[in-house]
Amino acid sequence: MVELKSEAEIAVMREAGRIVARTLAAVAAAARAGVRLSDLDALADEMLTSAGAKSSFRDYHPSWAPTPYPGVLCLSVNDAVVHGIPDRRVLRDGDLLSIDFGAELDGFHGDAAITVGIGEIDGSARRLTETTERALAAGIAAARPGARIGDISHAIETVAREAGYGQPDGLGGHGVGHAMHEEPFVPNTGRPHQGFELRPGLVIAIEPMFVEGGDRRCRTAPDGWTVVTADGSRAAHAEHTIAVTADGPVVLTAP
Ligand code: MF3
Ligand code: CO
Repeated sequence: MVELKSEAEIAVMREAGRIVARTLAAVAAAARAGVRLSDLDALADEMLTSAGAKSSFRDYHPSWAPTPYPGVLCLSVNDAVVHGIPDRRVLRDGDLLSIDFGAELDGFHGDAAITVGIGEIDGSARRLTETTERALAAGIAAARPGARIGDISHAIETVAREAGYGQPDGLGGHGVGHAMHEEPFVPNTGRPHQGFELRPGLVIAIEPMFVEGGDRRCRTAPDGWTVVTADGSRAAHAEHTIAVTADGPVVLTAP
């Protein structure tokens, strides 16, 4: 069932979203060559605590995962698409890092992700990142009352196709509220005018994931969590939690 949120609930979700945005910005600023992924996770954990919020990710245990999630961030480097575990890996110049973070405040979640380059990244990585961000913006722009989930999906898919990027199967956005993952599912491919109709009070995370080269096949790494591309090509990920309002989409995970 899809739960619509009241204006008061959306105001609380905006506060959760602000914590997410602030933390992502701090982690991005700290992500430099020589830094360990586990150090970034510790930084995000401190920020959660000082904001009086809880992690949406830590101890999350979906049926498909072998273990509860161990971190507060998902840090996915280069060929990792999503759900990378913050281990002791050291970042290097030229790495492409996806930072995904969720916070729960007063019972409501916020969920967002950005992809950043470490030091100098090549033009191909820059184009991949910028195109993924542009697809997120296109998806958000399509989230108007009266439109349907398929309009968001189609907007994202169109950007991927025009750029020649692959999109992993089965991964996409989702409703957000008292749970981090709620209905409806928000696929990154689809047809216009299809699917659940968007109404004021609907809160969803929109999250394109694009893969360099056209191959979209992925596999799960031995850790049981990290989704990596089958052919080793790099991936970028961008995500915002947004509310559909009578005036159009409002980004809840903006600074
Ligand atoms: N933020 C991811 C998403 O957008 C979920 C992270 S999985 C977790 O769906 F286990 F780390 F929580
Ligand atoms: Co999400």
